[in-house]
Amino acid sequence: MGADDRAKLMDSLKATRRSARGRKADATVSQKAPAPKRKVFDFRELPQIKQLQMHRAAADMMGIENPFFRPHDGLAAGTSIIGGSNYDNFASYNYLGLNGHPEVNAAAKSALEKFGTSVSASRIVAGERPFHAELEAVLARVHGVESSIVMVSGHATNVTTIGHLMQKGDLVLTDSFVHNSIAEGVRLSGATRMNFPHDDLDALEKMLSDQRHKFDKVLIAVEGLYSMDGDFPDLKRVVKLKQAYDCWLMVDEAHSIGVLGKSGKGIAEHFDIDPTEVEIWMGTLSKTFSSCGGYIAGSKVLCDYLRVSAPGFVFSVGLSAALAGAAIASAELLEREPERVEKLQQNGSLFLKLAREAGLNTGPSAGYAVIPVIVGDSAGAATLSNRLLAKGINALPIIFPAVPEKSARIRFFITSEHTEDQIARAVSTTAAELDAMRADGTAVDRLIKAAR
Ligand SMILES: Cc1ncc(COP(=O)(O)O)c(C=O)c1O
Repeated sequence: MGADDRAKLMDSLKATRRSARGRKADATVSQKAPAPKRKVFDFRELPQIKQLQMHRAAADMMGIENPFFRPHDGLAAGTSIIGGSNYDNFASYNYLGLNGHPEVNAAAKSALEKFGTSVSASRIVAGERPFHAELEAVLARVHGVESSIVMVSGHATNVTTIGHLMQKGDLVLTDSFVHNSIAEGVRLSGATRMNFPHDDLDALEKMLSDQRHKFDKVLIAVEGLYSMDGDFPDLKRVVKLKQAYDCWLMVDEAHSIGVLGKSGKGIAEHFDIDPTEVEIWMGTLSKTFSSCGGYIAGSKVLCDYLRVSAPGFVFSVGLSAALAGAAIASAELLEREPERVEKLQQNGSLFLKLAREAGLNTGPSAGYAVIPVIVGDSAGAATLSNRLLAKGINALPIIFPAVPEKSARIRFFITSEHTEDQIARAVSTTAAELDAMRADGTAVDRLIKAAR
């Protein structure tokens, strides 16, 4: 092709492109969609965001530093490194000190080296790997039931399991303090939810006698150890109620597995109940098992059904090798070293005893892994958390709406790794700081002072 021919070809290509662009522009004009009602949707217009900004502004005015999202520089157990300094740490779910345990790390590493970082898709299509079955077997054994099924998030486990098993025309009776994931699961299912007042089993019984006959399936959902108050239900009575009224019972053991029972087998062991009396055991891998993910343990029939039909399992990736390896090693350590459980229980009861002696309001806590110190208002709880940090203690506030405003609190999580000295210091410092704050007046007094 000569130079002239090439020039002609280029001209004709350019002309073709110009005319195509013209046609596209015409089409855009003729198919122009009607103008949107609002030209720009600004998230700042959302009432919820405005409210959040107001809360932040009020906290700024009172000079309260945000205690949430504190950056940590290492793993959290009895101590943690924040901003390069070591703090006594009461804000980790590392109940048995297994996170970072050499055996747990080695198991995670060897699983990762063999299987990589991801199983890439749902187990249905990506296939099974030996660590999935191994983890499900050890979890079933720890709970004393036939089977278990592991999912990639504890929260999603509750949402998908309840959302899938229950439906419109069913009833879910929940303790008013159950975790958000249970509430979201019920919402998704379309079943009716009724709350009974926290730990009030007389109220549960009354609801069952008034309501049971109006619904098809009925599920009672409780926790093995309540994460806000650190107490637990009388499971023997709950089992009797579910039998008498022909319901299913679900127990969320997020905070009780590894914590309750002589060998840490959870609330069934604590009450010496046959675990098969409970239809649905739920747990997370993120706490005692020092990993990430969630599971359901129960009958083979239930787990098989969820395996082929629960959307959160079927349409979500399988647990990755390192996470499964860490959880398997943690569960085996729990089985092999019950002395960790004993130490955790001793630490919890020591904290509770000292806190009560110091006149702190620990609510209904039973003195295991979770002990709240109720302060009474959100600003006060956030201020106390910051004052504790200044004294070398990391313990986080729980504020409204996670708990009612008047029961805003500092929540202390106890681990087997805490020393008696750390516990004694945490209690005495909390009591002293609370006294000093109260001498300063209420949150409103502090707000007025700050505004002056
Ligand atoms: C009682 C309870 N259930 C479920 C979950 C969700 O577990 P995860 O954080 O592992 O998703 C939590 C989380 O803290 C919890 O406290």
